[in-house]
Amino acid sequence: MDGSPFSNKTGFATRAIHHGYAPKDAGGALTPPVHMSSTFTFNTVEEAGAAFSGEHPAHFYSRISNPTVEILEQRMASLENGEAAVAFASGMGAITAVLWSFLAPGDEILADKTLYGCTYAFLKHGLAKFGVKVRFADLSDVKAAAEAMTFKTKIVYFESPANPTMRLVDIATVSALAHTHGAKVIVDNTYASPYLTRPLDLGADIVVHSATKYLGGHGDLIAGLAVGRHSDMHEVRVFGLKDMTGAAMSPFTAMLVMRGLKTLPLRMERHSANAMEIAQALDSHPKVATVFYPGLESFPQKDLAARQMRDFGGMIAFELDCDARAAMRFMNALNMIARAVSLGDAESLIQHPASMTHSTYTPEERAAHGISESLIRLSVGLEDVEDIRADLFQALHQI
Ligand SMILES: Cc1ncc(COP(=O)(O)O)c(C=O)c1O
Repeated sequence: MDGSPFSNKTGFATRAIHHGYAPKDAGGALTPPVHMSSTFTFNTVEEAGAAFSGEHPAHFYSRISNPTVEILEQRMASLENGEAAVAFASGMGAITAVLWSFLAPGDEILADKTLYGCTYAFLKHGLAKFGVKVRFADLSDVKAAAEAMTFKTKIVYFESPANPTMRLVDIATVSALAHTHGAKVIVDNTYASPYLTRPLDLGADIVVHSATKYLGGHGDLIAGLAVGRHSDMHEVRVFGLKDMTGAAMSPFTAMLVMRGLKTLPLRMERHSANAMEIAQALDSHPKVATVFYPGLESFPQKDLAARQMRDFGGMIAFELDCDARAAMRFMNALNMIARAVSLGDAESLIQHPASMTHSTYTPEERAAHGISESLIRLSVGLEDVEDIRADLFQALHQI
């Protein structure tokens, strides 16, 4: 149903603006109409039956598909170099629906040891409750990944870079390994966005996103997306979305995500440039102990970052050379940078994973999963970099 002349042969920025939509199909409207309709009508019951059976695909109910949401799905499939996409009400909606679509009691899932807190909780306490065996390993270590995979492993799941430690997983190597075991590889690409990394090109099977972050980009929505092969996305739509979670994206949200996507390349370039300067400035500050940023010379996986990322993104993690109380004083002393979870917004945001996004882990689990109590996570925004640096430095001066 893609009436747009902007095929996969055009550049990323062009597709982020045009793909999947032709104004001539909507009375010339420059931006896609927002179809706020729960249901869709048919001339005859026979036509409706053909839509329901899949004989003549058509929209019939917006929990399953919607014309506005479909444009976003086609655009995201194109940007991730996938065949199809399914949109969700949130990133967690996408993650839960995708995993539920491919797992059954008795199956094994192998996940990286560092995951966003709610994903970790879903695996550890949600899937496990339904008889899925969940194993965690350090997938950034190829040897450890190889040792952890068995022929029972149905899915290999990871984030790259991982939230919040910034560790990378070698997507091509781990995907090839997983495929020799017959496992599907699912990558959460929220931190990088398709502008910086395209996991499907590197061999992954499915990409999931919290579109709440860089894809939306403006801190005004909650949304999720999954991208992959037609057959997998069909399964995810009819089972994971329609019957299991019902976590459908609103057409209005789809319009907002498409508005965000138009500037994704520009924003990711500015986020990356600002973050690189801030990472270097923090790295040379006497009160900062360690900075984790893939663009830094000191980053242990610098070569892998250069291989699988176009640029290094807007996320930084760091540890101060002080106790946890002083780290709290530092965060409380910030004036412009907001103390808030979420990431990828125009505004710079700072948070303390151990007590906020990753409080779903016990202290022992955090220790085992590499999330230290003193780690600070910074989402570098689009403000003037001098102002971001000045705010960080005045707060560091106060501890
Ligand atoms: C890496 C990552 N994946 C998934 C999610 C969940 O997305 P949402 O909050 O849109 O449900 C988040 C949220 O912070 C995240 O950081």
